[in-house]
Amino acid sequence: MTSSKKIGILTSGGDCSGLNAAIRAVTHCAESVYGWEVIGICRATRGLLNQPPDVMKLTTSQVDNWLTMGGTMLGTTNKGNPFSFPMEDGTRCDRSQEIIDNYHSLGLDALIGIGGDGSLAILHKLAKQGNINFVGIPKTIDNDVSVTEKSIGFESAVNIATEALDRLHFTAASHERVMIVEVMGRDAGHIAINAGIAGGAHVVLIPEIDYDLKMVCDFICDRQNSGNNYTLVVVSEAVCTESGQTLQKELQFGECRLGGIGQYLADKVAAKTGSETRVTVLGHIQRGGTASPLDRLLASAFGVAAVNLIAEEKFDRMVTWEQGQVSSVPISEAIKTYRTVNPEGTLVKTARGLGICLGDRPLSGKVNRLERQLQGMA
Ligand code: F6P
Repeated sequence: MTSSKKIGILTSGGDCSGLNAAIRAVTHCAESVYGWEVIGICRATRGLLNQPPDVMKLTTSQVDNWLTMGGTMLGTTNKGNPFSFPMEDGTRCDRSQEIIDNYHSLGLDALIGIGGDGSLAILHKLAKQGNINFVGIPKTIDNDVSVTEKSIGFESAVNIATEALDRLHFTAASHERVMIVEVMGRDAGHIAINAGIAGGAHVVLIPEIDYDLKMVCDFICDRQNSGNNYTLVVVSEAVCTESGQTLQKELQFGECRLGGIGQYLADKVAAKTGSETRVTVLGHIQRGGTASPLDRLLASAFGVAAVNLIAEEKFDRMVTWEQGQVSSVPISEAIKTYRTVNPEGTLVKTARGLGICLGDRPLSGKVNRLERQLQGMA
């Protein structure tokens, strides 16, 4: 490769706060430090299905005020796997070679892809097949990309969920209600456990810990009996029903959208405890808006590190955050599995120590309602 380079950048998968801060950092570092040209590819790999490819030249002056902006100025998609692309007639088609050919027509020396585990796996496969010099940056509000302790967007999502809980305390207390807050996170409970602790929730249910509905209802009744007139429950969208069913809407082409566990629990809790119960589904609010200062820092550090990897000609790697430092790993390592909440880890221990009910066992040292009944105390 020549020392003067032309690099591409795209954002793929669900948007989140901090994506524009990462694009800005890549553009700044590539242009100001190395004197390279940066080309933004629009709407992820979809932009490379257009003829000509849907791209925009990025300059430092253009991206300078993108630091705080939510969403992604390049656009994105979380649908349309190029290896099994959904066609208008309802069939699926492998369009990967079209994307690779269009990528090469741009004359790019390397590509930076900002995505979650699904997008990074697709981009890694495209890069292998098409001989593309690829570097990945992890982003997702779910924080489930393995190997990296943090992904762009997670901290902002936790801030939003925490702020929602802060507000809900007052209305829940005023009306003496059980307030159930359903948060995103896919199969990982990171948003729920982080926001639950930070926002002072009383019950936190995550997919990694099976709950017993009776335990949760007894906990709520015990709170009421001891003079606490309201309860705040946080539930992660992938938490199952009592019979082990994940609540989701089946979409076209085998895709599905999680949602509904908040209302399911509300109906059960209301019936079993007699409490007035309300549900708040935070939904895409968690993905939107100004990036938190920590997400801006992470995005900036990842953007600069990704450009440096290209300068060192270290490809097929993903930048990571480990113990306060940016590092990198082979992408194959990062996409092997996904990161879930450790049921024996610090956050779960912290929640238990704070007396937060995780639905799996009575709080130690306390006799719950069921036990009192069994002992003839109730
Ligand atoms: O992966 C990010 C995420 O926000 C998940 O937490 C959520 O389940 C999903 O995306 C929602 O996707 P969509 O934007 O397609 O509704």
